[in-house]
Amino acid sequence: MSISLVEGDWQRLQEELLKAQTEARELSLALADAWDELTLLYSLADQLRGVLDVHKVTRLMLQHALDLLSMEGAAVLLKPPESDWVVHLASCPPERDEWLRSSWGKVLADEAIEQGKGFILNDLFAHHRWSGVAKAFNIFNLVIVPLNPHGHMKGVLVAWNKQRGEWVSGELKLLSTIAAQGGSVIESAYLFQQLQETFHGTVSALASAVDAKSRWTAGHSHRVTQYALQLANHLRFSEQELQQVQLSGLLHDIGKVGIPDAILDKPGPLTEEEWTTMKRHPVIGYEILKSIRQFHGPILEGVLHHHERIDGKGYPFGLKGSEIPLMGRLLAVADGFDAMTSDRPYRAGMPVEKALQILIEGAGSQWDKELALGFVAMYRERRE
Ligand SMILES: [Fe+2]
Repeated sequence: MSISLVEGDWQRLQEELLKAQTEARELSLALADAWDELTLLYSLADQLRGVLDVHKVTRLMLQHALDLLSMEGAAVLLKPPESDWVVHLASCPPERDEWLRSSWGKVLADEAIEQGKGFILNDLFAHHRWSGVAKAFNIFNLVIVPLNPHGHMKGVLVAWNKQRGEWVSGELKLLSTIAAQGGSVIESAYLFQQLQETFHGTVSALASAVDAKSRWTAGHSHRVTQYALQLANHLRFSEQELQQVQLSGLLHDIGKVGIPDAILDKPGPLTEEEWTTMKRHPVIGYEILKSIRQFHGPILEGVLHHHERIDGKGYPFGLKGSEIPLMGRLLAVADGFDAMTSDRPYRAGMPVEKALQILIEGAGSQWDKELALGFVAMYRERRE
């Protein structure tokens, strides 16, 4: 049996084929767009993994928003507890985020947090509430999504002046996904930062409590920490090593809580017996802190070994040269410099230049040569 098409059927078939081709082309374009969006969102999730820096999170969020959508500008506003809204980071031409810094930015951000979801404002020039700000700052459309409406660190992601056409719900959804990904990381980063500040505050308070046991050691732990940090910076220690230097510096004399005040605050040179007691403070400090896992390694090594000498004449173990852990050798230089330049009950602090000269003379015998000479070079450089 043969089928013959009349001319009308043939034409209809051709039209349907053409329509199907157009639809297939549109579908493949939409799929390509969706693929690009998914790839960018995946890359954002990937880059956000393990980030604990609020600034880095917001930078990544804005960068991905700008890669996905064509607009004049985008910004993240944040509101820490008990504080007002601040434009944390904006990506736009110079000064085009000014409108967000005005009271309008705060009103808009509060509204997004209150609603708990994002919204679009197209045609702002004709909007009954927003026409004023639209005309004043030439903002013709915007989309805003909240970050952590129920978290500690509230925030919003706002994008304005879409380059072609109006904002549509698909774009609102995309920005909401970016906001959800970034928002939870910002909350974790904020809480981590708070925890770290509390931890450092506690350590600093402990150091002050120890120093307060004697009028002669007031401020000693904080000064030693500053000298040690300056030297470590000069020697280009990593960020993590600098944090260890800071904690070890603050805690290095914590063992003095176990030394009688009569010895610590004695207005004269110590007897041999008193010195024997005094020399126990590095071990007492180590014993106090050893159960805190986070202090294991260089931090505890600094506490235990900051009175060792390169020639083996130090205490508590008489270690020599490279047997002494680096943190111990580093703190020994900072501690020695502060001890020489501070007043004691039986002598005034010596002039800085004399103390630097003693460091040079003791480099390689009392102190690590490279560290002692590095300290002198660093101190003189900073003074110039
Ligand atoms: Fe000490």
